[in-house]
Amino acid sequence: MNENVFRNYPIKNLIYPLFVREGKGVREPVPSMQGIMRFSPDTLVEEVKQLKRLGIEQVLIFGVPRKKDDACAGALGEDSVVSRSVQLIKKEAPGVIVMTDICLCAYTQHGHCGIIRKGARKLDNGKTVRTLALMALAHAQAGADYVAPSAMADGQVAAIRSTLDAHGFRGVSVMAYSAKFASLFYGPFRRAADCAPQFGDRSGYQLGIADREKALLKIREDIEAKADIVMVKPALGYLDIVVAAKKRYGYPLAAYNVSGEYAMVKAGSKLGYWDEKKMVLEILSSIHRAGADLIITYHAKDIAKWARK
Ligand code: PBG
Repeated sequence: MNENVFRNYPIKNLIYPLFVREGKGVREPVPSMQGIMRFSPDTLVEEVKQLKRLGIEQVLIFGVPRKKDDACAGALGEDSVVSRSVQLIKKEAPGVIVMTDICLCAYTQHGHCGIIRKGARKLDNGKTVRTLALMALAHAQAGADYVAPSAMADGQVAAIRSTLDAHGFRGVSVMAYSAKFASLFYGPFRRAADCAPQFGDRSGYQLGIADREKALLKIREDIEAKADIVMVKPALGYLDIVVAAKKRYGYPLAAYNVSGEYAMVKAGSKLGYWDEKKMVLEILSSIHRAGADLIITYHAKDIAKWARK
């Protein structure tokens, strides 16, 4: 029997990540993530229209800029690839909730998540936070509903919130990557977004894999800084953090089912180890069971299609 295990699945709780780069007519498969594409703004908007028809109402946009420079010019202003995409989506696919990733790793040549202090190998937190706030403001001006700071810079949520408020964007919400661990599970994404660090690693600003209490503290800080949604990332290896955060704070909580988790499912399916639909259901059920209200997942589009059959 071919039962439809996704018939009653709450698709509204899913957020689908999308990659956008410069150009026109681009639909470029991402080799590290089977089934995922990089779009240009024009094809991205077509994709979002299709997602909307399928019932996916929330997308999270990642920019893959052509030019990288230490001031992160590609992240700012109304002409950035993300801002142009947001404008188009808002015009042509109204009703879809548009979230944008706020991080600098794809915009710098060194691939770290912020601005590096001159002559040093450390992030300049003040400059990083100011640049992140300007990036968030640009996305808000383009029409983003949510901005999602993921650089793990100290004070990023408060700085973004006050910049948005000061410019009349009280209605733009913040989904904070609050507990983001320095994880190997981001490997396939770094190829997709072309944002692997060119020296060192992200352990200076992302959480260590054993940092449970620190993770919960980071989540509390972001709630106090008035984030609208807090997030745990990755999801599967960190479900204990999801459980604890939900129990301790009872706050709107997202979990990011990241690229490495996705790639493992795809690899096993290809080898015939499991039924992909049932595997995806098992994984997403476990994330929901732990207490996540929202799940960011590359499986969202497949799920929406499966639910219809
Ligand atoms: C940017 C960012 C990363 C991911 C989301 N935002 C990569 C990283 O921190 O290295 C990873 C998402 C995924 O693996 O699916 N900082």
